Amino acid sequence: MASSLSSTLTLPDNKMPSLRMVPMPADTNSSGDIFGGWIMAQVDIAGSIPATLAARGRVATVAVNSFVFKQPVFVGDVVSFYADVVKTGNTSIMVNVEVYAQRNPRVPEVVKVTEATLTYVALDDFGKPRAVHPE
Ligand SMILES: CC(C)(COP(=O)(O)OP(=O)(O)OC[C@H]1O[C@@H](n2cnc3c(N)ncnc32)[C@H](O)[C@@H]1OP(=O)(O)O)[C@@H](O)C(=O)NCCC(=O)NCCS
Repeated sequence: MASSLSSTLTLPDNKMPSLRMVPMPADTNSSGDIFGGWIMAQVDIAGSIPATLAARGRVATVAVNSFVFKQPVFVGDVVSFYADVVKTGNTSIMVNVEVYAQRNPRVPEVVKVTEATLTYVALDDFGKPRAVHPE
């Protein structure tokens, strides 16, 4: 349990989000909900933050292993992206990203909107894979 924004769901306890954003009308699809591509771009950025820290340098996204849009996101939601390294390989870093929307300030509500897992690769100065933990 964490913040008292909702009686049903709360933001993760004792964790700082990698990223927080408020989507604007320009980020909507033709139905008026937030475009999935906007969410994917923010998830990629959020995941790259712990990946870059783990790699101690440049990374590139090599794969989106899974991506689930569980609930729609709306204009004006406060969207928080929580990203954690879940596995480190030789040159790769797998990151799990969980996304929550805070909405409806009159009757505050927290909704888990997206879950994703992405793989990043640590790169050298020439854009080639390099060991995350060199010997
Ligand atoms: C990232 C890149 C340098 C990797 O080059 P590569 O020759 O494929 O590298 P490798 O085959 O040695 O794989 C590197 C690591 O990625 C992992 N990997 C490669 N493809 C993967 C996939 N589809 N899913 C999960 N992991 C994958 C490998 O298992 C390896 O991990 P490990 O060293 O921990 O065992 C190259 O694919 C690339 O430049 N891709 C474009 C990246 C990009 O533009 N991203 C979007 C913008 S950031």
